[in-house]
Amino acid sequence: MAPDVSAADTRLSAETIRRRKGGVPIVCLTAYTYPVARLLDDHVDLLLVGDSVAMVLHGHKTTLGASLEMMIAHGQAVMRGSAKACVVVDMPAGSYEDSAAQAVASARRIVDETGCQAVKVEGGVDMAGQIAAIAAAGIPVMGHIGLLPQSVEKDGGYRIKGRTQENVAALFRDADAVEKAGAFSVVIEGTVETVAADLTRHMSIPTIGIGASGDCDGQILVIDDMVGLTVDRVPKFVKEYADLRSVISDAAARYAAEVRSRTFPGPGHVFSASKDKA
Ligand code: KIV
Repeated sequence: MAPDVSAADTRLSAETIRRRKGGVPIVCLTAYTYPVARLLDDHVDLLLVGDSVAMVLHGHKTTLGASLEMMIAHGQAVMRGSAKACVVVDMPAGSYEDSAAQAVASARRIVDETGCQAVKVEGGVDMAGQIAAIAAAGIPVMGHIGLLPQSVEKDGGYRIKGRTQENVAALFRDADAVEKAGAFSVVIEGTVETVAADLTRHMSIPTIGIGASGDCDGQILVIDDMVGLTVDRVPKFVKEYADLRSVISDAAARYAAEVRSRTFPGPGHVFSASKDKA
């Protein structure tokens, strides 16, 4: 069914997501393109235009390859392809860390140019000023704590969080800072299961887990990981619900064989001199 773009007010709002704390789990997936957003919109509560797009669709090694322009272009595509889901667009590295004013200006650009419901910011105590300023400007913000992909170079790799008492205490400080700054929900990524569950009980805003805990208020996965399209290493926390690698590879192999044997195009795929439909 074509998304009804005139029905923008039927979308789930960030506030509706916030009120789902402790209720039916919040279903979230990333989406980056119009066709995928159309396929997912009926099934999810929230679509995240993650900066993972830089890796997943553009082939960068880390999410640091994402730019504001890239996020806006994919945000626009996902908004065109959806009518019900709350759409959140990631703020890419370099667009918000310097100051609250920079963060508000970038968030304003994302919302104005895409029409999305909210933005997402990575960081806890260190980004509380930015989150508070964006929220004070009337733009809903999702936080992101635990493993932070934008800090992967600084951290020396993808390191699971919550394995030392010191780090657990830091995670709780981050959770408190993000909540107090006014985030409507928070992603907890790559964090020890029991710690993520404790954080969920501790916080009064919904937690969205990825490599975290089944006790989180919602779950998110990267769409390409979830449907088996990821060609490089698939993280341990991913469950593949389909194997699109094989589907695409098999289709390409059959197409190649038919082109080489001249069985494609067949009579049904060419035009005669009489009028027929394209
Ligand atoms: O960019 C992204 O896809 C994300 C999710 C992993 C939460 O931030």
